[in-house]
Amino acid sequence: MLDSNIYPKIDLNTYRKETHLKDGTKIILRPMVTEDKDAMYEFFQAVPEEDARYLRDEVSSRLLIEKWAKNLEYAKTLPILAVKDGKIIADATINRRRSGWKWHLGTVRIFVHKDYRKIGLGHLMIEELADIAYKLGLEKLLVEIPDINTSAINAFTRAGFYRAAVIPNMVKDRNNMPVDVVVMMKDVKPAHDETYDYDF
Ligand SMILES: CC(C)(COP(=O)(O)OP(=O)(O)OC[C@H]1O[C@@H](n2cnc3c(N)ncnc32)[C@H](O)[C@@H]1OP(=O)(O)O)[C@@H](O)C(=O)NCCC(=O)NCCS
Repeated sequence: MLDSNIYPKIDLNTYRKETHLKDGTKIILRPMVTEDKDAMYEFFQAVPEEDARYLRDEVSSRLLIEKWAKNLEYAKTLPILAVKDGKIIADATINRRRSGWKWHLGTVRIFVHKDYRKIGLGHLMIEELADIAYKLGLEKLLVEIPDINTSAINAFTRAGFYRAAVIPNMVKDRNNMPVDVVVMMKDVKPAHDETYDYDF
């Protein structure tokens, strides 16, 4: 078992990071709070129809966003928001289980507002998720991406994810058509890194 004392930690209740996009735009990264409900609804109202076809959830539903805002439980689903001038411009989540055979695994998702794409925000958010996952003691991150979503596959590849599997016809799009899913993974805490060796 790993000695959790030797790894850097993160306090999710105080975590807040100011950073900049490549064009100099200042953004704040922080976990979603209940008060973000309306801003989240507005953020997801701007989802292009093409993207909505392949999303797991009906993010245009106010009820769903209200449920998310009301039932925040960072230990289960951790939503990290990128905020610019009080407006949400990206949302990335880590889902995890605290026990059982997947305790070491985080499943991630990311959505960048259409007006803020292709300026490195997706990459920045994925790197941030990996850093947070490491500090939370997770060992692996996993993402499921429709195999037609080249920009997402590229973004995760650039952030060090590898293609672990392709599952044919795994999901259905909003027209009920089957879609192949690419499963990509990244080791955030390699099993044989130097720090790990201190345990022996
Ligand atoms: C996939 C997604 C997260 C990528 O976000 P993004 O912010 O556009 O990602 P990046 O800006 O880091 O990279 C995207 C592209 O911009 C390019 N780019 C990055 N910084 C750039 C810059 N400063 N100037 C010009 N281009 C740039 C990258 O090279 C990349 O090019 P590519 O698509 O040809 O590979 C975004 O398109 C999205 O939210 N899609 C819908 C939801 C989704 O598919 N989620 C993934 C599954 S969970």
